[in-house]
Amino acid sequence: MQRFIQKMITGMPATDGAGVELVRVIGQPALDMLDPFLLLDAFRSDNPDDYIAGFPPHPHRGFETVTYLLNGKMRHKDNAGHEGVIEAGGIQWMTAGRGIIHSEMPEQENGLLAGFQLWVNLPAEHKMDAPVYQEFDAAKIPQERREGAEVRVITGETSQGTRGPVVQALTEPLYLDITLEAGAEFSERIDDEHNAFIYGIEGETLVTDETGKPVTVRKDRLAILGRGDTIALQGGDQGSRLLLIAGKPLNQPVARGGPFVMNTQDEIEQAFADYRAGSF
Ligand code: CO
Repeated sequence: MQRFIQKMITGMPATDGAGVELVRVIGQPALDMLDPFLLLDAFRSDNPDDYIAGFPPHPHRGFETVTYLLNGKMRHKDNAGHEGVIEAGGIQWMTAGRGIIHSEMPEQENGLLAGFQLWVNLPAEHKMDAPVYQEFDAAKIPQERREGAEVRVITGETSQGTRGPVVQALTEPLYLDITLEAGAEFSERIDDEHNAFIYGIEGETLVTDETGKPVTVRKDRLAILGRGDTIALQGGDQGSRLLLIAGKPLNQPVARGGPFVMNTQDEIEQAFADYRAGSF
């Protein structure tokens, strides 16, 4: 069965870190979460004032932060001595688990910085696991070519058998960066049990509704997809670029406290206590 668009979401301007201007798409009043996805921030600016302050050291516990850069460079550093630069087309999938303190700072003083940060929840029994990184630069992300389409496969496996380098068996995420030529048709299967959305990066993408009429997903819009096991897309007049993201819902209680996401308020208080005690 084909998936149709259930709801269209517009992101909300927000400021985070030491003053980074971004658009919060998931984790805002119009879309609190889309289990297992807790947050999606989109950033795109060529004005250094919008990004130069970066994200100085801050903690995380209980979930994963996923940074995908489209343009520019970000330096990442944590309290366990892990350090690296994420460049355009690269992915950093960080499982914070029981806790990490890290900073994410632009590695540039001017020019365009653009990308996404997605937060993926962890099941209760894995929130206190040891931190793990999965990092791949652009060259390590397979590019699948189809007629009129190009797909960068970050995680999950496409119907044509291309497999992304990031592996997360707990939520089985699918994370695809799809470029469509004008009018190109594209279809992909998505596990029926998984929550899924598309996010427009450039141009317009068309998704037909139940009556066969095309619905347009514009740039900077998130379309939540309803149930089904396939999605059919078409590139608009100027072609398009979009993210297709899906994952297995955890269906567990969610307690949020700033940079911590646990199952109960007590666990949030414990996270703050542990952080203050310097035990991260
Ligand atoms: Co962070």
